[in-house]
Amino acid sequence: MLLFIGPILKQAIANQQKSFRNKIFRIADMGSSFGPNCLANMQFMVEAIRKHERLEHASQKKATNGGICRLHLQAFFCDLPSNDFNTLFLQHHKEYSHFHEEGGCFTAAVAGSVHGRLFPPFSLHLVFSSSCLHWLSNIPRLILIEEAPEWNKGKIWVDGPLSNEAAGRAYAEQWNKDFVMFLISRFEEMAQHGLMFLRYLAEIDVMEAISSGGKIIYINGVLDQKDLDTFNLPLYFPNRREITSALKSAPNLRIQYFEVMTEDVGDKYWRKFMEDPEEGAKKMTDFYKSGLWNVIEAHIGSRKCETIFERCENLLKEDLKGQSSKDSYWIYPWSSYAILQLIKDA
Ligand SMILES: C[S@@+](CC[C@H](N)C(=O)[O-])C[C@H]1O[C@@H](n2cnc3c(N)ncnc32)[C@H](O)[C@@H]1O
Repeated sequence: MLLFIGPILKQAIANQQKSFRNKIFRIADMGSSFGPNCLANMQFMVEAIRKHERLEHASQKKATNGGICRLHLQAFFCDLPSNDFNTLFLQHHKEYSHFHEEGGCFTAAVAGSVHGRLFPPFSLHLVFSSSCLHWLSNIPRLILIEEAPEWNKGKIWVDGPLSNEAAGRAYAEQWNKDFVMFLISRFEEMAQHGLMFLRYLAEIDVMEAISSGGKIIYINGVLDQKDLDTFNLPLYFPNRREITSALKSAPNLRIQYFEVMTEDVGDKYWRKFMEDPEEGAKKMTDFYKSGLWNVIEAHIGSRKCETIFERCENLLKEDLKGQSSKDSYWIYPWSSYAILQLIKDA
């Protein structure tokens, strides 16, 4: 997952570590989830920090205590209370025992919303978040009110040629509010010279995304009209202007790097699944499930949700058999990311 941004993140960590003299270094992954990405992301950061530390020691020859003066690392996996933290830690102990080598890394779970405070003031040195900050804390209230211009009747999202402009604006406002709350909360929690490294979906051609994402939702016979009228995906992919504007109304975090980049994960990652439509459809369904199950289940219950994902898998299988491998965008359309590095100077 860090294939594209790994080098930028590594460099950012190296630059920032020069500013710290503490013996304790705390990393928090905001919206970590519980799957392999969350552990791989944390491992990447721990290794980058250790590598920089080794280089510093080598160049300064200031090793103590038998040649090594280690930073004490603390890693926090933060997600909503419904996140499967048990799976994370069972997995963690099985596959990532080397976290505890090289001077150790103390790990902990933090259950709560990233849109509010999660840590004491001045306690975090590196705040990381990948694929989380395009999730909204709530569907804007007016979206569900029949009399309001924002009512999003019969649709599950807010873009494309048939979109409702008022609903789109309500989503944009909600994203702005959530993102600013995230920045305000993290600003309080970050240590001086702390680094925030964010990656989230942005500037996506939503019609493309929703036309494939919608295959999961609009499946005849499972959902009735009321289900459709009242279900809305709590996602928003802001554009550059919206991100810049949110950053202006946030606290004093210096922008070190801001880019919206396309990660062609589809081609590299998904192409291999097209060779085996059965396996590919299953993998893709699991991928959609991991992101969408909770929100859909909360709306329509687990029985209908299960049926939807079963039908989704069949549909994908059929579609995969008819697709050419050039159509990777259809399969993994969500590939445009905002990458932000923010520094707390004071
Ligand atoms: C697509 S997963 C990203 C997982 C992982 N960070 C990665 O890079 O693959 C998004 C995660 O964000 C979490 N999330 C969404 N909104 C959140 C919130 N308000 N507070 C905490 N976590 C949130 C979800 O529960 C989910 O686990």
